[in-house]
Amino acid sequence: MKILVINGPNINMLGIREPEIYGTETYKDLCDLINNYACEKGIDIEIFQSNHEGAIVDKIQDAYQKVQGIVINPAAYTHTSIAISDALKSVSIPAVEVHISNVSMRESYRQISFVREYCEKTIMGQGFNGYLQAIDYLLEKTMC
Ligand code: DQA
Repeated sequence: MKILVINGPNINMLGIREPEIYGTETYKDLCDLINNYACEKGIDIEIFQSNHEGAIVDKIQDAYQKVQGIVINPAAYTHTSIAISDALKSVSIPAVEVHISNVSMRESYRQISFVREYCEKTIMGQGFNGYLQAIDYLLEKTMC
């Protein structure tokens, strides 16, 4: 099984950006955590990060018929991008939306998610662990 993990803009700044919200661990720490977990579970994982909407759309399109699950934290594009939600809809790959922070408790402009409708599940406010929970969900789903 192959899972693609996609992170949107500024997720590469983890550890530097707003540590009171996102914590002090870095993006590399996040990638190490995910890679080690995938190794433990014996799954093939690819982690992708981009600050560019089109690059994320391209990556989702490229995943068509190649990956069995997508874990996506579109970051700020969650609240703005119809292009990313259209791409998820186009490929119909089971996807889980992840947010490190609890967006439901934050600013009103973060209450909209354009991707939610095309994701089977949303995990928020669980820190980095949310990515692992999303992987577990996709794994359980494929075992059924
Ligand atoms: C985020 C929440 C978004 O609102 C924000 O723009 C991000 C990160 C999160 O992981 O909590 O960049 O997706």
